[in-house]
Amino acid sequence: MKITSRVGSLSEIETPLLVIPWCQESGVEEEVAEPLPENLGDLDAALGGTLGRALTAGDFRAKKRQSLLLYRMGTQGPQRVLLIGVGPRAALVAERLREAGGQAAGRAREVAVAELCVAAPDAAGGAREAREAGEAGGAGGDGSLTLEAAVRALVEGLVLGAWRFDEFRSSPESPDSPALEKVEILMADRAGQGVVSAAVQVGEVLGRAQNFARELAVRPGNVATPAYLAEQAQALGKDLDLEVTVLTPHAMREEGMGALLAVAAGSDEEPRFIVMEYKGGGKEAPLVLVGKGVTFDSGGLSLKPPAGMESMKYDMSGAAAVIGAMKAIAELGPKVNVVGLVPSVENLPSAHSMRPGDIIRAHSGTTIEVLNTDAEGRLILADALSYAARYEPKAMVDAATLTGAAVIALGHHAIVLMGTEPDLLEQLQEAGERSGERVWQLPLWEEYREQLKSDIADIKNTGGRPAGTITAGMFLREFVGSIPWAHLDIAGTAWANEAGPYQPKGPTGVGVRLFTEWVIGRAS
Ligand code: BES
Ligand code: MN
Ligand code: ZN
Repeated sequence: MKITSRVGSLSEIETPLLVIPWCQESGVEEEVAEPLPENLGDLDAALGGTLGRALTAGDFRAKKRQSLLLYRMGTQGPQRVLLIGVGPRAALVAERLREAGGQAAGRAREVAVAELCVAAPDAAGGAREAREAGEAGGAGGDGSLTLEAAVRALVEGLVLGAWRFDEFRSSPESPDSPALEKVEILMADRAGQGVVSAAVQVGEVLGRAQNFARELAVRPGNVATPAYLAEQAQALGKDLDLEVTVLTPHAMREEGMGALLAVAAGSDEEPRFIVMEYKGGGKEAPLVLVGKGVTFDSGGLSLKPPAGMESMKYDMSGAAAVIGAMKAIAELGPKVNVVGLVPSVENLPSAHSMRPGDIIRAHSGTTIEVLNTDAEGRLILADALSYAARYEPKAMVDAATLTGAAVIALGHHAIVLMGTEPDLLEQLQEAGERSGERVWQLPLWEEYREQLKSDIADIKNTGGRPAGTITAGMFLREFVGSIPWAHLDIAGTAWANEAGPYQPKGPTGVGVRLFTEWVIGRAS
């Protein structure tokens, strides 16, 4: 897909599909018809007045996700015009435009067009005041959505919404709908052109990196093995400004990564420890991203029940988020140093598996009593978190599909956030709002530590049923040392059971936008 921006008139543009994101001007009162903006008179004429009539009739009120497809009367100008509602102007947030982008890509597929034009959110209907709005934040919701944030989100939505995955089909699922090849962002004039083209680039990089993460997560356990993830990371290292190092079991043993190796023991697939370094910040201490890379989680000897076990191929979604974010970061080139760490294993039962009751020694030296081999994510993360100390990072954030309890606590609409440094937690909260990958904090109170006390070792790997997400966070905290650290439990957000405007059923690639947003916010 090629995305560019250009100046042009909505009524004269030659395109099979013109998309207009449309803000509700009449406020939240649903019974009021939307006015026809003055600058759309020509377009209305080209559409034989149907646009104006649809508005007067109240058929299109620009409610969020509402859409209307119109056709031209003559033989010139846009063949089709798709209005997409983004809700009341006063409540406009970037997520509405991300959704509009996804809807546009979906409609393009339905009407089988390979190219489309989208009116830049300020060219008509959309966030018209965007340009005047302040630079700070830009997340919107209070009239503060910037043109930059609006265009970026729109482009993200287009790239994410156009994503399809036919790799394992002998022939494409829908051979008649062409891939979206060309997208033009249409501006009314040259003001803001620089902002728009920069925003297009950022949105495209983020959308593609997220799609890349989705593809890592959707590939099954027999394909996307730890060695495969390492190869994918190394391939990125060849193309981009990333230094990629991969530790094999021999090196892990020398490092003393006893927890990672214990989880890996049950599988014939060798574990990998992937290190990706991006150096944009000179001699400064880096930020560290850590991602859980369990390529398949059967539970091990504490075997999971069969129903739904197949979904545990996405237990490497934290790894996908880190690898995807490192790709985006290397492409955007911020002035900051970043290290991505991915411990990757497969968790299977066998004659070599670790047993419930085993006591293992983590990389930090801490001894762990393994009460449940299905609490494996925290074990591999323990070794990665203490390994990170050698970088003396400014801050460290991990992402993991860590606990089923996170799904129970917050469902599918929020990432669980935990950590000890208020500043870092606040940065992640803001990055969550801006990227549309929102987080919600749970506490890491000392009282919860009790649940992890072992009768025989330094710590045990499960804290029982109460507050399962928090005790997992408390477990990780033991291995962090003095580094400012936060943990993201993405168990509820890494896989979509239902399709959304820019999200088909399947892997979401969550974390790529959040990580990248946070890192860019920390760059100088
Ligand atoms: N990968 C799972 C967590 C998970 C569950 C992710 C559902 C996505 C959807 C993790 O390794 C796990 O099995 N956790 C256990 C921990 C328990 C044994 C303490 C869980 O949540 O049940
Ligand atoms: Mn598990
Ligand atoms: Zn797991």
